Amino acid sequence: MKYYDKLIFELSRPGRCGYSLPASILGGKECACSNVGSKEAPVSGGVWRETPLTLPEVSEPDVVRHYTNLSQMNFGVDTGFYPLGSCTMKYNPKINEEIVSAFNGLHPLQPENTVKGALEVLDFVDGALAEITGMKHFTFLPCAGAHGELTGLMIMREYHMRRGDTARTKVIVPDSAHGTNPASAAVCGLDIVVVKSRPDGLVDVEDLKPLLGPDVAGIMMTNPNTLGLFERDIKEIAELVHECGGLLYYDGANMNPLLGVVRPGDMGFDIMHLNLHKTFSTPHGGGGPGSGPVGVAERLVPLLDVPRTSGFHGNFGIILRACAYILMLGRENVKMAGPLATLSANYIKESLKDCFKLPIQTVCKHEFVFDGLAEPNGVTTLDVAKRLLDYGFHAPTIYFPLLFHQALMIEPTETESLETLDAFIEVMRVIAREAAENPELLHTAPHNTPIGRPDETGAARQPVLKYTK
Ligand SMILES: Cc1ncc(COP(=O)(O)O)c(C=O)c1O
Repeated sequence: MKYYDKLIFELSRPGRCGYSLPASILGGKECACSNVGSKEAPVSGGVWRETPLTLPEVSEPDVVRHYTNLSQMNFGVDTGFYPLGSCTMKYNPKINEEIVSAFNGLHPLQPENTVKGALEVLDFVDGALAEITGMKHFTFLPCAGAHGELTGLMIMREYHMRRGDTARTKVIVPDSAHGTNPASAAVCGLDIVVVKSRPDGLVDVEDLKPLLGPDVAGIMMTNPNTLGLFERDIKEIAELVHECGGLLYYDGANMNPLLGVVRPGDMGFDIMHLNLHKTFSTPHGGGGPGSGPVGVAERLVPLLDVPRTSGFHGNFGIILRACAYILMLGRENVKMAGPLATLSANYIKESLKDCFKLPIQTVCKHEFVFDGLAEPNGVTTLDVAKRLLDYGFHAPTIYFPLLFHQALMIEPTETESLETLDAFIEVMRVIAREAAENPELLHTAPHNTPIGRPDETGAARQPVLKYTK
């Protein structure tokens, strides 16, 4: 925040106006914007306001500066490196935005013969995703990963119901699972049974076996899992679950490192979702629009057809971005994304493992987890994350997964240059040194950002969304 922004917080001044609308469109009276629609400057049709809008009265430069300054107080993938584990904050090619803007005028209720291009996009992306994942078909209705999970679990439940197998009410979820997995199962009315991970971070097959039985609807897994580790026993797990009559649900939020390398369908999964807003080049992490298409194996295709979880075709703009991304890369280059993301993650992991605790030493996929500093000296993972902001890097995901107390989950993605990765490694080493020499500097970080350590829970639960009381 600039110095004068602190001095002049309230910009509104009575009577100041950024814009006045011409008399010709406002019932004969020229008028300032906050009066539009009031009796003073009525809109046609008798729908004018009884009282004027209480908008701030500001000049156009004030408005422009206000929003531009706000945008600069935020951190985005376009302003810097964003290694937020589990979120795949890759660079999103700007040409996608241009392509999407060409479809801006579409309305979901337009007659079919006027939207043939859009239908072709849906058909193409369905085919491309089916080829990439080994599923038969996708529905594009779900608008997020968690929404996809719920849709997929509803398909799983319906599959058992239609066969009269009504006793299957349990869903098995690994203890390393993303929080949305058990949450979606609960929303779907299923009971959650947790399967443990082994010390090497993978699902413990011996712990799984006694959990399987005629009451199991299926298992939800992500592969690579939330520790960034490939579940090597997946074939055996698939056989065991199928043998007991259950289905396998694949949480495809972690699909990025597997693009063109391994297919969930070939691993034995029956139902899955993809987070297009991660793997297929739409930014993730800021709560913006997403898309979580759900794909199914051939025998489940009849269960895809009903738009039960949302109307129309979901977030079409995100599907269009995925279409542009896949076409731009082409079959050959799609296969490069995963290995490059894996290489970047392993490069950072190996370069920092002398300064940070690495609980699982094996080769990771797209992300990995440190368990705090090797020699913390009282410095926590939160302190490290806050200090990174001072150096212009977004923090990794912290305190997730829950398997480690000081988890720092780092996912660099494939779109970062070697120089950026090296700069991040250098800063992490500087922070480790600072922790040894001056821990107070880290306890009180960040020092260079507009705000420091807000009450994050309070901000989420009781957000203040108005500038006035
Ligand atoms: C492994 C995993 N599963 C599911 C989700 C849920 O996706 P969404 O945030 O789009 O609902 C995420 C989100 O980060 C994730 O990382």
